[in-house]
Amino acid sequence: MSHLANQESASPPATIIVIFGASGDLTARKLAPAIFNLSQDQLLPENCFLIGVGRSPMQDNEFRKYLKDSLDQYSRRKIDEENWQKLESNIFFHGGAYDDPNSFNQLEELILGLEKKLQNSAQCLFYISTPPSVFEPILENLGESGLAKRHHGSGFASKVVIEKPFGKDLESARKLNNIINQRFDESQVFRIDHYLGKETVQSLLVQRFANSIFEPVWNRNYVSCVQITVSEEIGVGKRGGYYDKSGALRDMIQNHVMQLLALTAMEPPSSLNPESIRDEKVKALKAIKPLSLKGQNSEVVRGVYTEGLVGGEKATGYLNEDGIPEDSFTETYAALCLNIENWRWKGVPFYMRSGKRLAGKASEIAVQFKRPPGILFGQDERFSLAPNLLVIRIQPNEGVTLYLNSKTPGLETKLQPIQLSFGYETTFGSNTPEAYERLILDALNGDGTLFIRGDEAEISWSLLSPILTYWNEQKTNGLENYSAGTWGPVGADKLLLAKGHEWITGKDYK
Ligand code: NDP
Ligand code: BG6
Repeated sequence: MSHLANQESASPPATIIVIFGASGDLTARKLAPAIFNLSQDQLLPENCFLIGVGRSPMQDNEFRKYLKDSLDQYSRRKIDEENWQKLESNIFFHGGAYDDPNSFNQLEELILGLEKKLQNSAQCLFYISTPPSVFEPILENLGESGLAKRHHGSGFASKVVIEKPFGKDLESARKLNNIINQRFDESQVFRIDHYLGKETVQSLLVQRFANSIFEPVWNRNYVSCVQITVSEEIGVGKRGGYYDKSGALRDMIQNHVMQLLALTAMEPPSSLNPESIRDEKVKALKAIKPLSLKGQNSEVVRGVYTEGLVGGEKATGYLNEDGIPEDSFTETYAALCLNIENWRWKGVPFYMRSGKRLAGKASEIAVQFKRPPGILFGQDERFSLAPNLLVIRIQPNEGVTLYLNSKTPGLETKLQPIQLSFGYETTFGSNTPEAYERLILDALNGDGTLFIRGDEAEISWSLLSPILTYWNEQKTNGLENYSAGTWGPVGADKLLLAKGHEWITGKDYK
């Protein structure tokens, strides 16, 4: 049963969550807070254990303290001391290399020991939160050790969550899928993209398909372009080692941005069943035309940030960040113009961009509608007939704004765009669960609606891999600089201007 169809899922059985890469940034900032907030809301089973796995050994107590400090720093709510004390004794650390079969046998012993204490079998959720370079050995060893195919009654007692990016190109994604197919049943596998766990991303389906006013205009007859912006003010911080091997296309576009595009462009699914939704996303992705990469008609732009001011603070250039080689040509910004060659979207450009050290943090989908015929208004400068826009704000200030043209008060007829705005926080209050809380709970409940299917990941890579190969050949040739704190390279503006458009996010429409 789908997540969307079944909000009130039953509590899962006794559970052991095993995090590979538990000493990392994601565990500290997102996974630990999500697990403990779930526990605080009593959404985890009574018997729930957490095992952290990492290459460098750590004492259980050290790991417990590390997690407690992370919670104090990053949890959206203060952690209840009594609750923490109850949980603390259920936390363990296992040190061992990810490619060492022995370490997986020891991990199994640890799991069996916990089950013995419980006098019952438990389901295991293996969460792979390492850099993608070690996904393969971990999956292989989970298979080889037998941990992948543990049984609970007639079903599987193991599930695996795999972080993004799912591979580094089409070939590696296919290889990962092959290993998964050999070692797991697809129902056990959860390829995560935390954007799908964000409240506003889920409500995109509701906005599109639970209202009748959008569907008639959601097509090439009325839409002039669609723009997806995922911009960040932060730089690469301490993640230079990972990021330099990744870049904006792999880190953000291949997964988060492509998912937003698929949900915006797809046809209505026949039901809320996870497979129906994924099938429609796949169809939309498959209809995207391969991109032109060269010369005047290039549909891709890449850039790298140089020194600048972000929010009034001086920000260093990418090449001077920790862990970045001086001859790096990794892009910290990418913009694309995609064409979806199907009945609904033929001729409507889908512009997408994502970058670090930009002028603002914003994840938005903006649908720009065609202008009305300029018969009554529009021939005259005074009327400044702006296009209608529907802007779906995923973060921050989650909400939806519809921009319409209105007459300004007064004796003269003058037009001005006005906004009809809905804000989640104003309407529903704050403190919504974090994306990772929802996704971890869904994985525990075996609900794959908000996770990526193997073919989705491959289609997305098949579109983007040629770009990566081309950029790799071109090195710095065509890599534009942009100052930190701006909206990115000028080439990205030209990409839109060539078709008579301009970026909406960051522009003042008031
Ligand atoms: P980290 O770079 O912090 O790495 C996580 C852990 O993996 C490290 O603590 C280390 O653990 C181990 N590790 C690091 N490098 C290597 C290596 N070369 N070989 C083997 N093991 C290594 O990554 P993050 O925690 O930031 O990210 C983990 C995953 O989550 C990635 O796939 C990332 O794309 C994804 N992700 C991260 C987000 C974030 O904001 N950080 C957000 C969304 C997704 P040890 O040394 O103890 O073995
Ligand atoms: C992660 C990327 O997937 O998403 C990071 O690896 C990025 O580079 C992060 O900062 C952004 O997530 P959010 O939820 O803050 O938009």
